[in-house]
Amino acid sequence: MSTNSLTVTDNRTGKAYELPITDGTIRAMDLRQIRTDAEDFGLMAYDPAFMNTAACRSAITYIDGDRGILRYRGYPIEQLAEQASFLEVAYLLCEGELPTQAQLDKWVHEVTYHTYVHKNIIKFLEGFRYDAHPMGMLLGAVGALSTFYPEAKDIQDPANRYIQRVRLVAKLPTIAAFIFRQARGLPYEFPRNDLGYIANFVNMTFRIGEQFNDNPVLQRALEILLILHADHEQNCSTSAVRAVGSSHVDPFSAVSAGIAALYGPLHGGANEAVLRMLDEIGEKKHIPAFIERVKQGEGRLMGFGHRVYKSYDPRAKLIKKTAYEVFEQTGMNPKLDIALELERIALEDEYFIGRKLYPNVDFYSGLIYQAMGYPTDYFTVLFAIGRLPGWLAQWEEMLLDKEQKIARPRQIYTGADTRDFVPIRKR
Ligand code: CMC
Repeated sequence: MSTNSLTVTDNRTGKAYELPITDGTIRAMDLRQIRTDAEDFGLMAYDPAFMNTAACRSAITYIDGDRGILRYRGYPIEQLAEQASFLEVAYLLCEGELPTQAQLDKWVHEVTYHTYVHKNIIKFLEGFRYDAHPMGMLLGAVGALSTFYPEAKDIQDPANRYIQRVRLVAKLPTIAAFIFRQARGLPYEFPRNDLGYIANFVNMTFRIGEQFNDNPVLQRALEILLILHADHEQNCSTSAVRAVGSSHVDPFSAVSAGIAALYGPLHGGANEAVLRMLDEIGEKKHIPAFIERVKQGEGRLMGFGHRVYKSYDPRAKLIKKTAYEVFEQTGMNPKLDIALELERIALEDEYFIGRKLYPNVDFYSGLIYQAMGYPTDYFTVLFAIGRLPGWLAQWEEMLLDKEQKIARPRQIYTGADTRDFVPIRKR
């Protein structure tokens, strides 16, 4: 008997089974052989919300949630945030290695020259109601992109996948900026090829006539935030991209599913929810009462807690540092004081200590975005721009993985047994 295995005895039958252990996992399909008789379907694993199920093998992002470690393709997030550009990180995630100068130049050139969107996208954005949420607009517009590039359906061709990747990375900031201007009734500012990725986005969002605050510190801060969001292994939106992509739909549709998942307040929407929470608290003296309400189960401390991190989220540490650099430029965001005090009190409270609830990536990011001039309902759009390379890298990895098939979980049926239809007059 191999020592790297699990022996399971089925007490219903008395039979023993040896299940191989590989990489700390057993294969759920190995359970299927465990049956009471030939008619039995076989044992399944029940794991709502995938609390303890690895759904893929991935070489992209490594997280050690207990030690607060995050690495992209082996590189520590701290080093990437300090030294890399966002497009360099996007290349690293999608291609697996850091680019050489020539590779980076080519990648940057291609992205720069695909930033324009078909002008009908503008009509499309104009069709939304005046108060449409930017994330609803983003997921609709990105889904609509698939109709402009019908050849994107050919997902088996690596060159075709590559060009759609370029298009998405290039066009997402343009669409996001158009959404920003649409909400304000401002004329659209078109992409400029003489500007870098971040400067071009900031220009498209904030330029008014000749006025444009070209502040390199703020632009670098935004770039760092995008890098910190670029991938986070099998989170809700990435799993959505993988699951939807596993049907072999085009990448625009798969990414718009990721945007939809990110929109939710338990995921990317948390940065927006944090700001609303800070507004609701209003003053430091209201914090203890707010914490009490959270502990009574009346709402959550938004921006706290994580399925994987059971220590301080390394991204939150870096974001906190970036916040001070930004506030030196913009002036202090008065809500920072409330956030710092909230963090201090929570980290000393047995409720949060016992549950290992620490600030996550969203706790401080909203304060920075707000200081930069982005409205609360736009924060998750910025998260989406950051997360896009991760979605694309994971989509590609899923497609190339020979073990993957269309995502199709099983269920335990709990409904009614068979019964005869009752005509409406007899109900
Ligand atoms: N405030 C108060 N209590 C909390 C919080 C919180 N933010 N998060 C978890 N808990 C409690 C929860 O009530 C539960 O307590 P009990 O055991 O007494 O029932 C315990 O901690 C475990 O929580 P859980 O809901 O089982 O944990 P989960 O892994 O399913 O949820 C989470 C993870 C991120 C959804 C959750 O921590 C949460 O809702 N946080 C607030 C929203 C947030 O900040 N989301 C951003 C996540 S990071 C960025 C991203 O991935 O998008």
